[in-house]
Amino acid sequence: MRLRPLGWILVVVVLGLVTLVPAASAQDSGYVGSDLYRMYCASCHGTGGKGDGPIASSLRYAPPDLTTYRQRAEGKWDPEEMRRIIDGRQPVKGHGGADMPVWGDAFKQSRDGFSEEKVKARIDALSAYLEEMQAK
Ligand code: HEC
Repeated sequence: MRLRPLGWILVVVVLGLVTLVPAASAQDSGYVGSDLYRMYCASCHGTGGKGDGPIASSLRYAPPDLTTYRQRAEGKWDPEEMRRIIDGRQPVKGHGGADMPVWGDAFKQSRDGFSEEKVKARIDALSAYLEEMQAK
């Protein structure tokens, strides 16, 4: 098959898109769970998740030890439930309300700019990090 110049330009543009787009989306979802955790959760839940963050003692409800979440759920880890807790669809006493934003909404207002996809990527990264944190 012989391509005219316009055809070649098209080929180059399409190849460019095919290689650039995945790189861009990998970057979008390149959130690091441990960084997000330190930034948004550690003040209450503690850097190690033990519930001993610097402001824990001044809260109305004590933040639970996140590392024993799976143990307390009898070994069950439900990532969907974790996402619901983080984004606020499943309320827990310490999140939301006057003390604390609900993360689904907070991430939507972040400086990063709003996109459903980025909100989801952050919540996924956090959920994965919490899973890593579970006591064996
Ligand atoms: C302002 C303090 C505060 C911050 C910040 C905070 N939490 Fe919490 N969190 C709490 C409190 C308090 C509870 C317990 C509420 C209760 O007793 O029901 C809780 C409960 C939870 C639970 C349920 C745990 C269980 O064992 O039932 C999860 C999961 C959780 N938080 C995850 C997070 C994540 C992830 C972040 C960061 C995105 C975060 N929290 C940020 C205070 C906080």
